[in-house]
Amino acid sequence: MAEALARSALRRRALGAHLAWWDATSSTNDRAMEAAASGAAHGSVCAAGYQTAGRGRLGRAWQSPAGVGLYFSVVLHLPGPVAPLVTLAAGVAVADGIRASTGLAVQLKWPNDIWVDGRKLGGILSEMVRMDAARAVVVTGIGVNLAPAALPPDLAGRATSIETELGRAVDRGLVLAEILVALEERTRQLAEGGSQAVLADWRAHASSLMGRRVAWERDGEVVEGRATDVDETGALVVRTASGVERIVAGEVSWT
Ligand code: BTN
Repeated sequence: MAEALARSALRRRALGAHLAWWDATSSTNDRAMEAAASGAAHGSVCAAGYQTAGRGRLGRAWQSPAGVGLYFSVVLHLPGPVAPLVTLAAGVAVADGIRASTGLAVQLKWPNDIWVDGRKLGGILSEMVRMDAARAVVVTGIGVNLAPAALPPDLAGRATSIETELGRAVDRGLVLAEILVALEERTRQLAEGGSQAVLADWRAHASSLMGRRVAWERDGEVVEGRATDVDETGALVVRTASGVERIVAGEVSWT
């Protein structure tokens, strides 16, 4: 891993310039939140060999066994107005990085899933450290399944990994290095007024899921519709029988 990171260093400036590694830790998001609270620079990375309390969206656990996945979190300093787009930008970066390092094309599923043909290959969890109108400090945690893992039965059928999809081993350090290179580019685009380009690339990676039926809960009732787009704030746009709705957070099931 160190060798791949060293090789990519000239194509990165901030991202991964400071990288802290734990063989095991509770959650790399915990470590990055602490680092951010102590003033860690934009692009500082906390990574681990495995996590004992990896977490995903909506309070779910993120299985993080040793030797089969990438688990890392990045401290990002961004202009406040673009902070809501950081998870979508990170999704594009993960897709770009996996493609560049392995050739595998992945899809993105709103809001934070890395997906291959209906199976989850990775996920992103962004947590806000502080935010005012001008600046936001966000921790974006990224988990990527590199190789098959022994998962609980309820997850096993719904998960996949890069090596499962390709049927061969990949250079794991290179996957991390290329995701960091891509994340540097995508966060720079966001910071420099390029949100529309980031969203256009997100839509291109999500095209196979647009038009699909989605269901979510509103005020205790299940609402259904068809996903049509993401808007400029990163909300999912859904056409329902009664009109167009924007979903900004929460659980959406795709059918
Ligand atoms: C999800 O799909 O709900 C998001 C999963 C995010 C997992 C990553 S692994 C690195 C970082 N540390 C965590 O505890 N979670 C994120």
